[in-house]
Amino acid sequence: MKKIFVSAAYPGSSIDRLAQKYDVHVFDKDRLPTAEELAREAQRSSALITTVSDVIDKNIIDLCPNLKIISNSGVGYENVDIPYATERGIFVTNTPNVLTETTADMAWALMVCVARRIVEADSYMRSGQFKCWKPTLMLGVNIHGKTLGVLGMGRIGTAVARRASGFNMKIIYNNRSRNEQAEKAVGAGFVDFPTLLRESDYIVVTTPLTKETKGRFGLPEFRQMKRDSIIINVGRGPVIKEAELAEALRQGLIWGAGLDVFENEPKVDPELLKQENVVLAPHMASASWETREEMIGMAIQSVELALSGEVPLYLVNSEVLSS
Ligand code: 8YV
Repeated sequence: MKKIFVSAAYPGSSIDRLAQKYDVHVFDKDRLPTAEELAREAQRSSALITTVSDVIDKNIIDLCPNLKIISNSGVGYENVDIPYATERGIFVTNTPNVLTETTADMAWALMVCVARRIVEADSYMRSGQFKCWKPTLMLGVNIHGKTLGVLGMGRIGTAVARRASGFNMKIIYNNRSRNEQAEKAVGAGFVDFPTLLRESDYIVVTTPLTKETKGRFGLPEFRQMKRDSIIINVGRGPVIKEAELAEALRQGLIWGAGLDVFENEPKVDPELLKQENVVLAPHMASASWETREEMIGMAIQSVELALSGEVPLYLVNSEVLSS
């Protein structure tokens, strides 16, 4: 029986169904597998179902003579050495589309929480500080009528921007290349990066992590942003230099931040933890019951196709077909 290693437990019953046909091992612990555990499981497996936290590098791949597919449950796949997997003829797949809308919901949840100080307000209430109403209590900033700047106008960026029409916002974006389809769909205008920094009231980062996006935001960029602007990151943590964001918040260069992803997950820069005007979430943008089930369903579908000799649908290394 072919062996499949699943590096985390998932809701729903699709893994149980998979286990009727294959020898499935699930790493069902409240922590990540160590590199040794991952290596031990991987070397006997024909398929791996991984998450963004599992580093699948040359060392791991070299241990796996039977490996046909690395099915990454998530849209991002920077945790996998794609060129090496391709060289070794191993399929790498991801789970696009199914998490787009859920991630966009989270970007908006963070926008609203930061702008209207919801987390701070909740603590204020629970700690019994609400003694009298006054006109200066918990003042935030408006969202409606402002300018939304999206960095990364792919599927998730477009879904974030689509939600902005209900808030009567102007939408601008910056991307590797223009996305005319999104421009038409959500009425967004393409701008260069400095204009995005200068004109946005809200910047939402939805980019993947690449050489170009790494460290894109630091103090020089925060200095160019409006003083009452807010930055939201639901893309990848290292796009923002976290220590410099903490410093920008401390100096009041921008008004606030909402982060779902971090530079060195699961660690958070201690200086950032000291700032009140930042809302932090543990990389949970796609964490809804429905979406998680869809993600694992899609990851399993790819594994089943690959193990039955077919080409999986969501290949991220299509060059493997000609290698
Ligand atoms: C996932 C994500 O939860 O899809 C992605 O790229 O960042 C998250 O939505 C995570 O990657 C799980 O692997």
